[in-house]
Amino acid sequence: MSAVSRDWIASPGAPLCGAIDIPGDKSISHRAVMIASLADGISRIDGFLEGEDTRATAAAFARMGVRIEASAPGTRIVHGVGIDGLQPPDGPIDCGNAGTGMRLLAGLLAGQRFDSELVGDASLSRRPMQRVIEPLAKMGAAIEASGGLPPLRIRGGRTLRGMEYTLPVASAQVKSAILLAGLYADGETHVREPHPTRDYTERMLAAFGWPIAFVPGEAALLGGFRLQATDVQVPADFSSAAFFIVAATLVPGSELRLRRVGMNPRRVGLLHVLRMMGADIEACDPAEQGGEPVADLVVRHAPLHGVDVPEEHVADMIDEFPVLFVAAACAEGETTLRGAAELRVKESDRIATMAAGLRALGIDVEEAPDGARIQGGRLRGGTIDGHGDHRVAMAFAVAAQLAGGAVRIRDVANVATSFPGFESLATAAGMGVEPAPEA
Ligand code: S3P
Repeated sequence: MSAVSRDWIASPGAPLCGAIDIPGDKSISHRAVMIASLADGISRIDGFLEGEDTRATAAAFARMGVRIEASAPGTRIVHGVGIDGLQPPDGPIDCGNAGTGMRLLAGLLAGQRFDSELVGDASLSRRPMQRVIEPLAKMGAAIEASGGLPPLRIRGGRTLRGMEYTLPVASAQVKSAILLAGLYADGETHVREPHPTRDYTERMLAAFGWPIAFVPGEAALLGGFRLQATDVQVPADFSSAAFFIVAATLVPGSELRLRRVGMNPRRVGLLHVLRMMGADIEACDPAEQGGEPVADLVVRHAPLHGVDVPEEHVADMIDEFPVLFVAAACAEGETTLRGAAELRVKESDRIATMAAGLRALGIDVEEAPDGARIQGGRLRGGTIDGHGDHRVAMAFAVAAQLAGGAVRIRDVANVATSFPGFESLATAAGMGVEPAPEA
């Protein structure tokens, strides 16, 4: 997907001020396209994330015969083909960088009558798929993957059976893959999680009329129903907002409003931890948008101190650790994190990539297999590698706002997978970040 590798030069800018709109939620955008494609009738999605990951998912369904009109940026009109209406794609489906796309599609395609193949980019091709292959195989699916890695070859025409399954690790992607296979299974599919994770698949299925019972940490559905088209309003992505929340907290003089940010309780663990560290973040005008809680967040600069991150918040902030590492690096004292081994199998090994980058900027970081100890200090300028990981690149753009010199961030092209327009929004808010001149 992201063919070119680009660098940024980031350096201290101005205080972050004003009000900004963050692009739509990635997790919800993926699910909205998938479930609207399988519904009877026409659904309109507003606030759709125009990122490479979510566009790859839309392209996948277009390849399987779903008409999806991009009537305006951020809007998709999806002409659903019904639960059994997908057509065989004419070749492998490219999920790009998207673990969510690939894992959810694996579940959904396991129940189709045709064979399919899922491929991804270099980062996705290193990510573990056994975690979905194994439970789906228990349901009767046949998925081949050499060494448990993509590509995934999915055999169609299988009879799936519902099952009870307890996830060994908390993962919304694995839970969702099983639930989507469960739409095509005989009997009940019942999933339990060691810690509750984001419940967007459950909420979205319910919104499209599929009977589903769910409480935090548990979901159950029966196969054999139909989905009814419905319109979806996607809230702003909390994980994208997180970079601005931390930047405004760290840069003296900042007061920034982020409008209508998604506040699903399974996503906002970072707010709890930042507040424990001393952050000044106010959630104003709470409302409901498309069945999801949203609020304006007003963030004012505040000095931070280190904390032991409570393990109970880890699953609720699983995508926010790159930027939390930056907050910890700029805090007074030590921050410790445990119970976050999942960070090692994200778009990069985020414990290793963040530790290496922060060390390059003069911060003392000690790695543990499932976390890290970060000693707050003074950041200096330098060069760090984004390792093709969008959130690592954006986290270091935030770090650079506090650095003693310019920070060159290599390999930032993948920022477009989740946050198209990050650079211009960051600049408009006050941050110093610009494309590096071509070497
Ligand atoms: C996601 C779930 C999380 C998260 C990812 C998006 C989702 O992954 O890290 O960015 O949309 O379900 P896991 O469920 O594997 O932890």
